[in-house]
Amino acid sequence: MQEVYTRFGSEIAKGLKRSTQAQANTKCWPTYVQDLPTGDEMGKYLALDLGGTNFRVLLVTLKGHHDASVDSQIYAVPKDLMVGPGVDLFDHIAECLAKFVAKHDMRNAYLPLGFTFSFPCEQVGLKEAMLTRWTKGFDCAGVEGEDVGRLLHEAIQRRDDVEIDVVGILNDTTGTLMSCAHRNPDCRVGVIVGTGCNACYVEHVDNVELMDPAYKRKQKQVIINIEWGAFGESGQLDFVRTEHDRKIDEKSINRSEQLFEKMTSGMYLGELVRLVLVQALEQNVIFKLSSKRQEYADILRNNVDIFETKHMSEIEDDTFPEFANTRRIVKQLFGLEKAAVEDCQKLKYICECVARRAGTLVAIGVSGLINRISDRRVVVGIDGSVYRYHPKFDAYIRETMHKLVKSDKEFDIMLSEDGSGRGAALVAAVASKTK
Ligand code: BGC
Repeated sequence: MQEVYTRFGSEIAKGLKRSTQAQANTKCWPTYVQDLPTGDEMGKYLALDLGGTNFRVLLVTLKGHHDASVDSQIYAVPKDLMVGPGVDLFDHIAECLAKFVAKHDMRNAYLPLGFTFSFPCEQVGLKEAMLTRWTKGFDCAGVEGEDVGRLLHEAIQRRDDVEIDVVGILNDTTGTLMSCAHRNPDCRVGVIVGTGCNACYVEHVDNVELMDPAYKRKQKQVIINIEWGAFGESGQLDFVRTEHDRKIDEKSINRSEQLFEKMTSGMYLGELVRLVLVQALEQNVIFKLSSKRQEYADILRNNVDIFETKHMSEIEDDTFPEFANTRRIVKQLFGLEKAAVEDCQKLKYICECVARRAGTLVAIGVSGLINRISDRRVVVGIDGSVYRYHPKFDAYIRETMHKLVKSDKEFDIMLSEDGSGRGAALVAAVASKTK
């Protein structure tokens, strides 16, 4: 834990410096979001949210007094769009947006839009964001190296049926930080532990060499998108990575990339459990008394992703000796009726090890940020399916934070309320104000 903590800290320092950023895994991109919300923001804003399991269009009404309401629509992103030509993906986004605007009868209204695009982007301003690499199973041709704001704008123009002004592009971690800061002014860190994993924090502009100096004059702070999912790509985590981690990486579409993310996020945790379980079956240390053990092992071995991260949450929620969820899941996944108590305990233990390790790694990162920030009290805003739905993830994180956060600091963790929607509206609102 201490070793990862130290390596993580030096990686962030590298990411912030012009001379070393190229070698850093954690790119620490300035987001150009420099104003945190006051809670008084008002107005209607559109938001787009791309980067998790679904794509969403939202209409956010900021009401002042730290209050907001959100009306949203979820659209699926078909698998072929995730790996097809980028133009098709952006046409799909523009089509969903146009439908949403028509449905809400807003064709003639002027609505600023905040685009939550949750992939690593190099920003040169609030509205220009160059995708540096795809993550989380996306791989659309013609987008890496391009400004996603321009691609969205062009897709909207191709349709020519809506008039939308994209005023800001942000990462979901920034949205999370903004949405929590809207409620609690002490929020300085935003974290996502969902399909992917990442964090951002508020840094003093003097420490951010890669930011255009013109932006440093008025405001002394800026949100930094760390992109910590990439941590470990220079081997820093090799001493803790297991054969299962290596297998996950080898069969992923982004080999050797996002190694920290592959140990911490929802896209991979369930799969890690499946791999451990296959090995345990092969070594005859689980479901020993079952005559069909070979059959179970085959089913598990041949069905990649059959064990989902949500199953871990359900299993860790189970109580001794009923194990109602565990028994239902093993029956559903490989047809085993009435699993023995001992086997349920073992499966639960595997799930716990994988989740606890993820929580520990996330906490190492968060503690490093809190210790870096000069404020004595720091609130951390967190969101994402793993954090939200896993019954013990919050406890795992806190346990490690209590060990690593400096004793003169005070911290709290708060669950974010729809960071990608409300946060996007807040970025759009502060952008309009600045303008
Ligand atoms: C992306 C980040 C994002 C995180 C959480 C990662 O794969 O690179 O930009 O914040 O997922 O959605």
